[in-house]
Amino acid sequence: MSNIQNLKHQPTAPIGVFDSGIGGLTVAHAIKALMPHENMIYFGDTAHLPYGDKSEAAIQAYSIKIANILLQKGCKVIVIACNSASSAAYELLKEYVRKEAYVINVIDPMVDFITKQFGGKTIGLIGTKRTVQSAIYLRKISEKKSGVILKTLATPLLAPMIEEGFFNNQISKDIIAQYLSDSNLSGLDALVLACTHYPLIRKEIEEYYAGKVAILDSSDVVSSFIKYQLAELGLLNTESNSTSRFYVSDYTDAFEASTRLFFGQNVHLECMRLWD
Ligand code: DGL
Repeated sequence: MSNIQNLKHQPTAPIGVFDSGIGGLTVAHAIKALMPHENMIYFGDTAHLPYGDKSEAAIQAYSIKIANILLQKGCKVIVIACNSASSAAYELLKEYVRKEAYVINVIDPMVDFITKQFGGKTIGLIGTKRTVQSAIYLRKISEKKSGVILKTLATPLLAPMIEEGFFNNQISKDIIAQYLSDSNLSGLDALVLACTHYPLIRKEIEEYYAGKVAILDSSDVVSSFIKYQLAELGLLNTESNSTSRFYVSDYTDAFEASTRLFFGQNVHLECMRLWD
């Protein structure tokens, strides 16, 4: 990582995490489960959701605005907890943030995991249009020359469906089955959930495959990667009394309900518009 050196932060500085909405909460939750002492600031860009249908330029503009907020709040690390933003804006954000914070995307740790654990296997990948059309996983996986065959499918209805609270019901089951039965996804050994919203429908995806296909979700892989990097940098927080703060660019009941689902009833949501 190019901006790994010269960080001037204290270990008590927060980890900043952002996504278009609730999807990144799956990553934030895994980070807090693995590193309970870390302070965290979460930003859900609910005003611009879904990111998966936006242009690369639009996602880059949103990401820079959010990074500015997280930097102002003194974050030591910025986690792009969104595949669409990781594919569209990681390189730009890394350049922009430079020495002020360490930037982590959700794609590289997953690519490492897949190529180490599934060499020579056939892997499927579902994600937003932005992520799939960027072909970033195909490119990064083929660079590793591990013999992985990657089959990808854009599944644009899934993130808005999850944001609207449609999971674990007949509608979500039907939509999931329609996508997963696509001939592009035949003969898989494993399926990558290349959208941070999808762990919320992981159970339904597992049921569809009845245990015959391994389901790979990046939240654990990414949180382990962050812990390793923070330890290397001497930036792991060991003090107790950690806090988590949650910001959205537009208040929605759905976001508040989901945040409470992950982080308990005491969550207080603050609204902060990106262009005020
Ligand atoms: N959770 C995001 C991702 O990983 C974005 C979903 C969306 O807003 O379209 O791609």
